[in-house]
Amino acid sequence: MTKSVPTIPAEKDPTLAAKHLEEAFAIFYAESQKLETQQAALQEKINQLSSELQKSNQRLGILLNAIPAGVILLENNIVLLHNPAVLQFLPNLSTGNHFELPNDWQASIAPGEYLIGNAEDRNSPQKMVQVIRIDEGIRSFVQIQDITANIALHQETQRENRLTAMGKMAAGIAHQFRTPLATALLYSSHLCDDEVQPEMAKEFALRLRKQLMDLEKLSQDMLRFISNRPTKTVLASAKQLIDEAQASIQALFETKQVKLNVQCDIPETVMLLVEPKSIPNALVAILENALAVSKPNDTVLLTASIDSKKLIITIEDQGPGIASTIIDSLFEPFSTTSANGTGLGLSIAKNTLDAHRGMIAVHNTKHGAVFKITLPITQQ
Ligand SMILES: Nc1ncnc2c1ncn2[C@@H]1O[C@H](COP(=O)(O)OP(=O)(O)OP(=O)(O)O)[C@@H](O)[C@H]1O
Ligand SMILES: [Mg+2]
Repeated sequence: MTKSVPTIPAEKDPTLAAKHLEEAFAIFYAESQKLETQQAALQEKINQLSSELQKSNQRLGILLNAIPAGVILLENNIVLLHNPAVLQFLPNLSTGNHFELPNDWQASIAPGEYLIGNAEDRNSPQKMVQVIRIDEGIRSFVQIQDITANIALHQETQRENRLTAMGKMAAGIAHQFRTPLATALLYSSHLCDDEVQPEMAKEFALRLRKQLMDLEKLSQDMLRFISNRPTKTVLASAKQLIDEAQASIQALFETKQVKLNVQCDIPETVMLLVEPKSIPNALVAILENALAVSKPNDTVLLTASIDSKKLIITIEDQGPGIASTIIDSLFEPFSTTSANGTGLGLSIAKNTLDAHRGMIAVHNTKHGAVFKITLPITQQ
């Protein structure tokens, strides 16, 4: 038995086969023509885009050379390119080298700000610069700019605001000094009386001393209000600053049987650049007020947390809330509803926080007043 071998079907009619082949060639030719046209169009587009890219690179180069800020492009922290302006801040910077800020740049209170230059060098005065770094994968972009003039302007505005506030304060000061001064004068005139008994003289002397001490505290507070620039700053743990405030007021809370609940769930390593004592003092001023409006068995809650490189402290009490008559001028000096208070506590606290680039805000809830403080974190 013979096995049938499969065969490839062939065109039986040679003329038809030639026609089909011709048609196939025609299609092939047409398609390759199309492809060629498309490729030419694509090449033209590439040329156009390259020329646009070259032009924008040129424009970018002109722009980078013209802007006063220093700009550096890094790859794996190696300097890939930089503009000339950066050399005024980092004269030794060169491409191909590892990038780091010089050790003698002093970190300022606000993160990313540095004091550079030598205070004793008259030819190059000290400058305040701001460094912004954006990391994207292996590439980083660093911008350095001189903010000395902005800072000076900011300080000048703050000083003018304080001078305006001082104008308003004048009437308040007269009012605050009048009563203790009149009382002190009265006691001193009693002391000058030849007839006064020795034990009464001692009593008058003690009362006179108390009035003078109150006046002294008042003038100290006023000085603290006027000078707001931190003179000497140190790195301090946020947790320790809060502990310090708590330690200095805890006994007063216990005496009044008010609970001070501190929920400070932040690591010890969170550091702020602060003038020693100033931040605890500001917290104590707010806690003193919270204690003053609390009844026995009330709780004052202090919480501390971190929100995008900022330390957030809230202090919440169960008192009557801030009186509507005072809420708009709460942080101004001599705003008070208290017969014994001077109304300087919160204005000094606000000044301290402003000087540390922080903020303070207040709002009333159903249960009392809530103060919210925000401070920049220097190290985390
Ligand atoms: N937690 C609070 N609840 C309700 N009112 C408050 C609270 N904190 C502050 N206040 C109001 O704000 C005013 C101003 O407070 P501030 O601490 O500046 O001054 P003071 O407490 O009156 O005097 P001192 O200068 O002695 O602190 C207070 O008199 C009070 O009316
Ligand atoms: Mg107070």
